[in-house]
Amino acid sequence: MQVIDEKTITDAAVAQMSGTPDPRLRQIMESLVRHLHDFAREVDLTAEEWLEGIRFLTAVGQKCTAHRQEFILLSDTLGMSSLINQLHDKRATDDATKSSLLGPFYRQDAPMLKLGDSIITRSKGAEVVFYGRVTDANGKGLPNALVQIWEPDETGNYDLQKHDPSVMDLRGCFHADAEGRYYFRGLCPTGYMIPMDGPVGDMIRAQRRHGYRPAHIHFVIGAPGYRELVTALYMEDDSHIDSDTVFGVVESLITKVNHNDLNAPLPLPSIHYDFQLARATAKDQSGRVGADPSQITAKAS
Ligand code: BEZ
Ligand code: FE
Repeated sequence: MQVIDEKTITDAAVAQMSGTPDPRLRQIMESLVRHLHDFAREVDLTAEEWLEGIRFLTAVGQKCTAHRQEFILLSDTLGMSSLINQLHDKRATDDATKSSLLGPFYRQDAPMLKLGDSIITRSKGAEVVFYGRVTDANGKGLPNALVQIWEPDETGNYDLQKHDPSVMDLRGCFHADAEGRYYFRGLCPTGYMIPMDGPVGDMIRAQRRHGYRPAHIHFVIGAPGYRELVTALYMEDDSHIDSDTVFGVVESLITKVNHNDLNAPLPLPSIHYDFQLARATAKDQSGRVGADPSQITAKAS
């Protein structure tokens, strides 16, 4: 007869899962159970507190739709997405631009545009030209690299937050030229508060956190044979640059507007950034911590 007590319960649970045929699933679940049990013992968790946690996770799930991903927001605000990004970057075999958060507002069906086009369809605000190159670790341009971009409007809202999903604003996809060069027009990035009208917002308020992200613009960059890069550029003069609610800022991704850039490809204030991609290896998996929300709900149903 198995004796289950506060200490033996962990080994008993792990033993019951030991027949899991997939070794990676076995390893992940065993470690998860051990850490979860240690956490409960460490804080001497009560039944009411555990139930409150279950209520919270239920509310997080109920808030998710094809256009709103509260679980990604939770992962982001707990620092988990950023941690997964750091681990992903550490596995690269070449030097590459650092990853940053995909966040909950990525859409995979953004319009394909031509180099030099504007991603602005509805918004108003200060326009800038973004430009640079997509290269390998040795600085060789990656011809035709696919550059996907999205950013919030001048009020700090993404199109998905303001319009019905048929409206696309401030997003687009570009192919780099034969030397890996890209350029496009967009808005000077704006900072914003993460969505606070759901259970994650309740958590942020309970923790007396400000809820802001510093001004940024998102990029997903891919080229055949290279690891996809999920990243963002951050504006150095934003007052929240050192206290991002979702821990996405990395020093090497901080940039600024240049008002006197003789090399800018268009007569506008400019933001210049060169992106480096690492070669893909056989073991590589996606670095996207998240996905287009509609894809996540499609898979779940
Ligand atoms: C974003 O940058 O789009 C974002 C990331 C995490 C939480 C909320 C928004
Ligand atoms: Fe964002």
